[in-house]
Amino acid sequence: MASIAYAFKVLCLSLLFIVVASRSSVKPKVFNVYRHGAKPDGKTDNANEFTDLWKRACARKSGSSKIYVPKGTFYLGGVEFVGPCQNPIEFVIDGTLLAPSNPNDIKQDTWINFRYINNLSISGSGTLDGQGKQSWPLNDCHKNPNCPKLAMTMGFAFVNNSRIKDITSLNSKMGHLNFYSVHHFNITGVTITAPGDSPNTDGIKMGSCSNIHISNTNIGTGDDCIAILSGTTDLDISNVKCGPGHGISVGSLGKNKGEKDVKNLTIRDTVFNGTSDGIRIKTWESSASKIVVSNFVYENIQMIDVERPINIDQKYCPYPPCQHEQKGESHVQIQDLKLKNIYGTSKNKVAVNLQCSKSFPCKNVELIDIKLKNNGVENGPASAVCENVDGSTSGKMVSHNCLN
Ligand SMILES: *[C@@H]1O[C@H](CO)[C@@H](O)[C@H](O)[C@H]1NC(C)=O
Ligand SMILES: *[C@@H]1O[C@H](CO)[C@@H](O)[C@H](O)[C@H]1NC(C)=O
Ligand SMILES: *[C@@H]1O[C@H](CO)[C@@H](O)[C@H](O)[C@H]1NC(C)=O
Ligand SMILES: *[C@@H]1O[C@H](CO)[C@@H](O)[C@H](O)[C@H]1NC(C)=O
Ligand SMILES: *[C@@H]1O[C@H](CO)[C@@H](O)[C@H](O)[C@H]1NC(C)=O
Repeated sequence: MASIAYAFKVLCLSLLFIVVASRSSVKPKVFNVYRHGAKPDGKTDNANEFTDLWKRACARKSGSSKIYVPKGTFYLGGVEFVGPCQNPIEFVIDGTLLAPSNPNDIKQDTWINFRYINNLSISGSGTLDGQGKQSWPLNDCHKNPNCPKLAMTMGFAFVNNSRIKDITSLNSKMGHLNFYSVHHFNITGVTITAPGDSPNTDGIKMGSCSNIHISNTNIGTGDDCIAILSGTTDLDISNVKCGPGHGISVGSLGKNKGEKDVKNLTIRDTVFNGTSDGIRIKTWESSASKIVVSNFVYENIQMIDVERPINIDQKYCPYPPCQHEQKGESHVQIQDLKLKNIYGTSKNKVAVNLQCSKSFPCKNVELIDIKLKNNGVENGPASAVCENVDGSTSGKMVSHNCLN
């Protein structure tokens, strides 16, 4: 018995040694931006130093690289980090990256942009400070066609097998993190913050993406915490806190030609606190695309003082006049939705609003244990409104059940 235990110990120790040894042999080469001339004085533009280091790291053939941003405030104009790279790259940010406060000093649509990269890993205790305050009053595009173009904080396009962890994004000018055509990407431990009244400061926005996982993430902004757009599939969201903000929003969809289906979304164990919306799907009433939104599961969701906890709006039209009289109802088909164990408080008496398209009614909507209470100014129990919905309910329901 003793000799077996001894042999086992020896085996474990040698295995440990092998693991440690092989780890150290694949240790990435570190490029410290400070050691390579970047100045943490909060005013010298370090864009050239950062992009030069990226190019060297990306071109390295003999192993993985790590770009390191130490503590300190590094001012950065617009930067683009473009692949493909020869090997995996880590970007560790422990300092603050500071954006220009004048929006015209970023001459691209995303302040920090990653494109055509596989195996990218961004992490660290650092902050991306978008300095949006000066830009927010300029955000009036719905009424001013000559409005200035404001940059998003960080963008990923054509990026696969990658991840972002622990970083904080603060006060973006437009959206914080933007994903386009990104596949297999993990977002975890991230904090996203902007004031509740800052316009268009979406937290995480994605289109044409698949297999994105968002977990343990805290988002408070002036727009959608998470916005899910055309062509996004296999999205998994868990343990997210959202508020202030406009909730987790699918859409808006249907407005433009060539849009793609949105399929297979799971949202679990999430809290909406003080948001305008919680669970939200919005499609334009006069739509140019005929697409399908399907296979969504929302489970274990807490609402705290949410204005519209569950809101499917197929007559989305934020800026009247609206054109549904001429163009007809939304052509977006919503089907196979399951909402289970949604609980907490609603600021509107109508806690469940399912306003589906007359031409393409919602199909197979399952409501299970919807335990929402009205704590708004209007008296009476929380209620539900349904238009053009086919589905079922079970378990607890808000009073005035409109699905059967
Ligand atoms: C990325 O990782 C995958 C799987 O580990 C590997 O097959 C691929 O060669 C890597 N690509 C790059 C550019 O590092
Ligand atoms: C990224 O993944 C998508 C979907 O899996 C694939 O079509 C595309 O070719 C991949 N891109 C790269 C650069 O590997
Ligand atoms: C994302 O996380 C999951 C679960 O932890 C893991 O299996 C997967 O490999 C991760 N993917 C990437 C691209 O980091
Ligand atoms: C749904 O998406 C998850 C990832 O979020 C994936 O693991 C699963 O296979 C997908 N299911 C279907 C039916 O495509
Ligand atoms: C909800 O937000 C309020 C106001 O910011 C805060 O005081 C409260 O602690 C939050 N509740 C939870 C459960 O996070």
